Amino acid sequence: MGQQGSRFKKKKRNSISAADNRASISSFKEEYNFENPYMMTINETQIDRMQTQHHILRTIWSNNFSAPIKDKLSAGHDYKVLDFGCGPGTFIFDLSSTYPLPKFIGVDFVPIFPTQVPRNTSFLVANIMDGLPFEDCTFDYIHARFLVMYFTQEEWENVVIKELSRVLKPGGYLECYDSEIPWYNMSPSLEKLSDAVQRELFARNIDPLMSRKIDEFIQATGEFEDIQKEQKDIPYGSWGGKIGELSAQTFFQFFEGVRKPIKDIMNINDQGFDKLMKKFESEINYYHTYGKNHRIVARKIEC
Ligand SMILES: C[S@@+](CC[C@H](N)C(=O)[O-])C[C@H]1O[C@@H](n2cnc3c(N)ncnc32)[C@H](O)[C@@H]1O
Repeated sequence: MGQQGSRFKKKKRNSISAADNRASISSFKEEYNFENPYMMTINETQIDRMQTQHHILRTIWSNNFSAPIKDKLSAGHDYKVLDFGCGPGTFIFDLSSTYPLPKFIGVDFVPIFPTQVPRNTSFLVANIMDGLPFEDCTFDYIHARFLVMYFTQEEWENVVIKELSRVLKPGGYLECYDSEIPWYNMSPSLEKLSDAVQRELFARNIDPLMSRKIDEFIQATGEFEDIQKEQKDIPYGSWGGKIGELSAQTFFQFFEGVRKPIKDIMNINDQGFDKLMKKFESEINYYHTYGKNHRIVARKIEC
């Protein structure tokens, strides 16, 4: 099976009781015996990055989702939403504060979500590679964002999409969102960083352009209809206005998060990495760098 399996063994409990994320992170090492097998470091900077990214995307898309579910969210006492790979839970919090009636559940195998939550919201630790802890046909809407760096194609096809489909109700919507790697209009320094990220992903058997194929994986299940794909460009740098400035910040944070594998694959030390990052930061506006994001929405076929 995939590269993930059960990489952490839960020691004591399912969620950590710390009231804030800071405490969560410092304690999850002991709590979960966590040896991070992924490219991306998990720390406060990365949590900040994910939170800022959520607000950037909401502004760029002028919404949080494309599925035609607004009326159901507004009306729905019995409506159930799952955010798979929820990270710090920003998407869930945004939706659950706008729509008080549905039930919102965030799932991640790393408990970086807050433990103090509104009544209509809960978070669970689970690894999709072991199966999600829900009955078949539980959710009306499932959201899954920024997962391309975590799963091989085989895992997308044989586990992730199938498991999300299993827990989705017939007539419910699956919405996946992901970005392309590499980026566009890259400066020479970004070319180097991007090349290192891609090499590391290939070494992990992960296609950096997986986001372009998610609709095909969904189609291939034969369980979905009305599959729609949208794409938007994300500007990096002040040439893209305030949003561009913010997204450049998250872009720099992203590379900080993969500092270790990049250093290893480029065979450079911290000074070398810092020098490259400085150059990258100074070049970003001149080159008008941008990235491509894909949003895919599909409806599960009713029997
Ligand atoms: C890049 S973060 C994105 C977080 C959030 N979706 C967002 O848009 O801000 C990807 C998240 O997926 C989680 N994840 C990766 N593989 C997973 C798995 N096998 N089971 C559950 N969660 C997983 C990671 O722990 C991480 O928090």
